[in-house]
Amino acid sequence: MRQVILKDGREVLIRSLTSEDLDQLMTFYRELPLEDRKYLRIDVTDKSAVEQRIQAVKNGTALRYISLMNDTIISIGALEFFSDEWHRNHGEIRVVVARDHQRKGLGMIMISELYLKAVEHKVEKVIAKMMKPQVGARKIFKKLGFKEDVRIPAYVTDLERKTQDLVIMSCDIKDLWKELETLYRDSDWTRCR
Ligand SMILES: CC(C)(COP(=O)(O)OP(=O)(O)OC[C@H]1O[C@@H](n2cnc3c(N)ncnc32)[C@H](O)[C@@H]1OP(=O)(O)O)[C@@H](O)C(=O)NCCC(=O)NCCS
Repeated sequence: MRQVILKDGREVLIRSLTSEDLDQLMTFYRELPLEDRKYLRIDVTDKSAVEQRIQAVKNGTALRYISLMNDTIISIGALEFFSDEWHRNHGEIRVVVARDHQRKGLGMIMISELYLKAVEHKVEKVIAKMMKPQVGARKIFKKLGFKEDVRIPAYVTDLERKTQDLVIMSCDIKDLWKELETLYRDSDWTRCR
């Protein structure tokens, strides 16, 4: 558990997600604007699908962290591990920040938190997958040194049943560390730690 300060000076607590957080997590997801929700991997308004994700934490196939402001969840981040041999040293990162708290450095803080966990778990390559309209996600991962590996046209379907291009980005863990170090050193964002 740790306390961080956002660019607007407000305090946030970051800690692991537990099954006791389920109801509050559902409130967080249901309050997301459709534009932020409709490209996510699962329908996050479906409680049983969210419960399965919490179960994945218990099974050790994923790590999930939430950040709270005044006891209210304002973001969630996940590091998922792969079970197949092809991807044995890979980890996939995903982050969602509540609209009112975006562009205040929280996405970066959550990714750096997940990065540290990835190092602990000996992940060598970090992957991020998103649909083409997820512009904020592409920008933040690009800023961190992720390169676009591939863009597969009309490969996935959003919540409104519209086909979208899938964008896969990745970064070697050692390069991600370099980028995070530079960010901590060079920007006013250092105070967010
Ligand atoms: C992507 C997301 C997590 C970013 O969170 P955030 O807290 O706003 O990100 P930060 O404030 O840490 O942004 C860091 C930098 O990333 C870039 N960035 C982030 N969002 C951006 C956007 N919408 N447009 C352009 N650049 C953006 C900027 O360079 C920003 O730095 P700056 O604000 O100093 O210019 C957030 O927009 C979100 O939850 N989107 C909806 C869900 C989603 O698409 N999740 C990704 C799934 S992989």
